Amino acid sequence: MKKIISGKVREVYDLEDGRMVIVTTDRLSAFDVILPRLIPDKGKVLNALSNFWFDYTKDIVKSHMISSDLKDMPAEFQKPEYEGRTILVKKLKMLPYEVIVRGYMFGSMWEAYKKGEPFLGHKFDKTYQQAEKLAEPIVTPSTKAEFGNHDINVTLQYMKDDLGEELGSKIEKAAIAVYKRCYDHAYKNGIIIADTKFEFGLDENGELVLADEVLTPDSSRFWNAATYKVGTNPASFDKQYVRDWLKANNLAGDPNIKTLPDDVVDKTAALYKECQNRICR
Ligand SMILES: Nc1ncnc2c1ncn2[C@@H]1O[C@H](COP(=O)(O)OP(=O)(O)OP(=O)(O)O)[C@@H](O)[C@H]1O
Ligand SMILES: [Mg+2]
Repeated sequence: MKKIISGKVREVYDLEDGRMVIVTTDRLSAFDVILPRLIPDKGKVLNALSNFWFDYTKDIVKSHMISSDLKDMPAEFQKPEYEGRTILVKKLKMLPYEVIVRGYMFGSMWEAYKKGEPFLGHKFDKTYQQAEKLAEPIVTPSTKAEFGNHDINVTLQYMKDDLGEELGSKIEKAAIAVYKRCYDHAYKNGIIIADTKFEFGLDENGELVLADEVLTPDSSRFWNAATYKVGTNPASFDKQYVRDWLKANNLAGDPNIKTLPDDVVDKTAALYKECQNRICR
């Protein structure tokens, strides 16, 4: 068994038999920097959310999930520290796209729209304010750059031309359907999922499979429905305290940050837990 990826937040192990183990740690990244303190149980929350959504959408698209039971995993994972944050998945041939679904006029799309520019091939028939819900969610893929880690945004048509119309359309439909169904569930429970990123792969039969993490606050923008207002810049549901504290202390994006106060850690942990309580039911 070898560790193949140590991402910002997750550790991935290849069992070299067509399966992988993904461990979600309590690390938190804000303004693209891994913060110097762990957020208690954040990894468990992310893992619980992904697992919930995989099950909630399994009739739309297959997922890579095999088991979340440590007993099904190699002996080295059968330790309390892995409990609730570790999953056994099918290793797929990953498609080289991040499939972004946007349900709200926000971020880089808002920046382009404000200037009157189309956004990655999408033109908008109605007028929008910042953070306004789109008439229909749209898909804007991005692809990994050869060097460095900045992704390149591409049009949906670019992805379809590359992967073929059939597979490209299947991905588009699956991504929209998963987003919409989960959006509705989260919304009923007071969380707006403004946008998100999916990753798909192909299994040994060439079938499309939903992989990676799904609809977690790390792969999505979560807003609090109770305080959400059109025409504003809504705070992140989960990172609001930590981002505010970093900004107030001039530490946003500072890779040399030394520590975080206890109350910021505690409040942030509580926000993650709140996401889980609201959604996993
Ligand atoms: N079922 C799967 N089969 C094969 N690869 C997968 C599967 N699920 C996820 N992956 C890949 O595993 C990796 C998970 O890594 P992770 O997201 O933790 O780190 P990263 O993408 O390198 O960096 P970042 O922390 O910025 O996300 C990704 O490259 C993802 O595409
Ligand atoms: Mg990743």
